[in-house]
Amino acid sequence: MDRAVSSGRNWPFPFRRRGTALELRPCKYDLRTYCPVGAILSDYPDPSIFTVSPAASGVEGIANIDFVLFRDCWMVAEDTSPPPWYHKNVMSELTGNIHGVYDAKSKGFIPGRMSLHNMMLPHGPDKTTFESASNTELGPDKLDNTMSFMFETRFPQHLTAFAANEAPMQDDYIDCWSDLVKKFDGTPGKK
Ligand SMILES: [Fe+2]
Repeated sequence: MDRAVSSGRNWPFPFRRRGTALELRPCKYDLRTYCPVGAILSDYPDPSIFTVSPAASGVEGIANIDFVLFRDCWMVAEDTSPPPWYHKNVMSELTGNIHGVYDAKSKGFIPGRMSLHNMMLPHGPDKTTFESASNTELGPDKLDNTMSFMFETRFPQHLTAFAANEAPMQDDYIDCWSDLVKKFDGTPGKK
């Protein structure tokens, strides 16, 4: 095992910059021990707060790559919809389900599956998740028995030939957003 890992120094960061080079360091981490943080009053926080291990870039506020974990946690906030919001950004996101149900996709995103949303590609919860979160009685709600991960990087991702041509694909993935109705009308206030 790497000395810095075994001694606890720089742990649990598997990436380390030495001069202009990026070193990869072996790291073993029991994800079941990761303690997430979250909102305690309103609004759903940006998923980047669930970062387990970051690799900083030379640009303040933008990581080369973050390793992010979504695991069991309490979803308690007021005046907001608990699933992740619809967005696009400069980060490319590779997300995978390890076990349980991912909170942004109630159907289809089964354990073992991964999705890639490349930079500036809009995405968000599927229609079923959006509608049920919009119409449920808000209150203490706990995500249980779930674990998904995400690698989030500022670099655009290219598929390998295997991933593009041979790996099993979910052909109807994009259909999860097809029935979404535009509800934003630009006026301030609670809807
Ligand atoms: Fe995202």
